[in-house]
Amino acid sequence: MSRFVVRPGEPLQGEIQVSGAKNSALKLMAATVLAEGRCVLRSVPDIADVEIMGRLLEAMGLEVRRREDDALEILRGAEIVPEAPYELVEQMRASTAVLGPLLATVGEARVALPGGDDFGSRPIDMHLTSLEALGATFELRHGVIEARAPRLVGAEVVLEYPSNGATENLLMAGVLAEGTTTVRNAAREPEIADLAAFLNRMGARVLGAGSPTIVIEGVESLRAVEHVAIPDRIEAATFLCALAVAGGEVTLRGARADQMDLLVDKMGRMGLRISPEADGIWAMARGRPRPVDVATLPYPGIATDFLPMLVAVMSLATGTSYATENVYAGRFRYVGELARMGAQVRVEGHHLVVDGVERLSAAPVRAVDIRAGAAMVVAALGADGATTIHDAGHIDRGYERFVEKLTGVGADIERVD
Ligand code: EPU
Repeated sequence: MSRFVVRPGEPLQGEIQVSGAKNSALKLMAATVLAEGRCVLRSVPDIADVEIMGRLLEAMGLEVRRREDDALEILRGAEIVPEAPYELVEQMRASTAVLGPLLATVGEARVALPGGDDFGSRPIDMHLTSLEALGATFELRHGVIEARAPRLVGAEVVLEYPSNGATENLLMAGVLAEGTTTVRNAAREPEIADLAAFLNRMGARVLGAGSPTIVIEGVESLRAVEHVAIPDRIEAATFLCALAVAGGEVTLRGARADQMDLLVDKMGRMGLRISPEADGIWAMARGRPRPVDVATLPYPGIATDFLPMLVAVMSLATGTSYATENVYAGRFRYVGELARMGAQVRVEGHHLVVDGVERLSAAPVRAVDIRAGAAMVVAALGADGATTIHDAGHIDRGYERFVEKLTGVGADIERVD
């Protein structure tokens, strides 16, 4: 696996083009299963997770091609192999997003059950119980969920928790079910609204996506269409965190402040000057960040995916910050890596107490997952010496041309294979 070597340097200066959202693009790709024909998806980032979803669709019999104009073209024929094998699900949990579309189109699916991961057990029980409400049945055999739904019939589903994955699977099953499906306590993330916009463009009737209640009127069939994925708010947040540590002035082209307004507010409290522009976000940072308190929550709360990078910034703040992780049970593995760089972070249950230090000290560290890896890069910009980040392949899973984008604004970061 490749490594990144990061050294602190001059303040950042210039423009970064924000890519399309990974967590939207992966579900848009899964949704192409719902219609025969050629879908064209634009702003799909060229990252390892997209590559894995492409391989999964190909294993199911679809054709996936990156065109010269960078759009992703996905061709679905009449035949589908309704299977998501363990080799792919194990590499990427989002593979489970094909469950709903497969049930809706071919009435069956065999999807490997994802195991636990670095964030804790991460079950998909809500995906299954909510699809059961629409008439699907499930059996677990040899680690594979065997799903059947000769007919899907709309129902009223109340999610115990606004899970993104469960909401997405329900959306993609409900669009072709008979009658009306109502999802209450639905996830409200911008990526859900983007998926609904794509489905509606395909001919679906989805109302209320982005709010806690989504109403889906089932239709007979859908058609293949073109769609542009929304910008990646987590990538944009990562660059704001890098700026908070390195200082400087950066414009994030394509970023949407309205899809990350609480984060923009928090970063303002940490001392960044941020101003939304017509086509992006302008931000400036001078001096050490100020401490803040942050608790992660489902959207519109502060995303759990922001927290590792925010903690990296807090570890260099002028005082003590408190951070609470409410979404995942065990997402603190990166704390031990930050500690190797001299960060003063205490874990207390699902809370962190972060005593800011003036400078971190470069050390070999590991990217334990995508966002943890990004957090290491942020921290390394404020560390004396050269930090080597091992397992940087995790960062490539979620960030398009990460090293190039950062060097483009003057950061001292290189990839070593
Ligand atoms: N949960 C259950 N049962 C379920 C589904 C979820 O208990 O059936 C729990 C999860 O274990 C977790 C919480 O509910 O504690 C939230 O899970 P959610 O379903 O919302 O997450 P997800 O759809 O599996 C997506 C993103 C994650 C992001 C979360 C939360 C994708 C591919 N992944 O996961 O992104 O952290 O939402 O916002 O969209 C990342 O991009 O690095 C990443 C991990």
